[in-house]
Amino acid sequence: MPFPIHRPRRLRSSEPMRRLVRETSLEPTDFILPLFAVEGEGVRKEISSMPGNHQLSIDELLKECAECRELGIGGVILFGIPAHKDEEATGGYDPEGIVQRAVRAIKQEVPGLLVMTDVCNCEYTSHGHCGKIIDGDVDNDITLNWLAAAAVSHAQAGADIVAPSDMMDGRVGAIRTALDSAGFPKVPILSYAAKYASGFYGPFREAAESAPAFGDRRSYQMDPPNWREALREMELDLEEGADMLMVKPALPYLDIIRQARDRFDVPIAAYQVSGEFSMIMAAARNGWIDQDRIMLETLLCCRRAGADFILTYFARDAARLIG
Ligand code: PBG
Repeated sequence: MPFPIHRPRRLRSSEPMRRLVRETSLEPTDFILPLFAVEGEGVRKEISSMPGNHQLSIDELLKECAECRELGIGGVILFGIPAHKDEEATGGYDPEGIVQRAVRAIKQEVPGLLVMTDVCNCEYTSHGHCGKIIDGDVDNDITLNWLAAAAVSHAQAGADIVAPSDMMDGRVGAIRTALDSAGFPKVPILSYAAKYASGFYGPFREAAESAPAFGDRRSYQMDPPNWREALREMELDLEEGADMLMVKPALPYLDIIRQARDRFDVPIAAYQVSGEFSMIMAAARNGWIDQDRIMLETLLCCRRAGADFILTYFARDAARLIG
């Protein structure tokens, strides 16, 4: 029996050896923590399907943000739950809306923390859809006006990055034009470019109280069987002025992240969504898997697929573990 010449195990023989040849890394700055802002004071209401995540009033949110800065994570992304929802999503683009006030408070109290805002209407509409309903469907072009107004109001409040997640056609262009004419040419757009109509958003809709009252989001979010269409969406968003592209969800869509990485030279983000988080937490709480290990493995796999940074409900836990 001749000895094998090639022995890949040589380079796996010890931790220092493995560390030396590791191709992908995880840093706290790779993580963005989603936070949910609500009206009130002293509110810290746990989201039952997302252990460790809460709806937070601004005072409580600030504590969370200070901790994020302490941990050196990449930043936070804000979602707002307004006191009142209406047909026109007015809470979404009200300069005194919940997200706008939250951004101002963070910028004042926790300077240096990167703040992104999610730009969408579904948290603000009484029907839970992402835009203006006409004849039972979301009207694209009217909705663009709401999105542009929301993005400008976020920039006015001090948001570092705006991230439209609605999947209307032409929203990146509309937002870019609105930001530029309002005097915010320097505020970048992180586009949720390849956002699929996914069952993995279930727990988020409890968190944001944004489940659609009728129908679903399949007429605007992408159809899961499609990958070429994702590349087309990304290309269009870049043409319209997107600075960064996002793929969402993350783990079931690693093929899309990889193709985005290979095809485009802008930063690529992945969103490890609520359902991905909740599944890991549920299995871990049953003692079926090792939570810390799976958490880091899934995040690492997003990075290996080509994501530069990851929006994840594990941001704090992961940063603590590797910090
Ligand atoms: C708003 C929005 C959603 C998520 C991010 N932005 C919900 C949806 O599209 O229904 C989902 C995030 C998650 O599941 O963690 N449109």
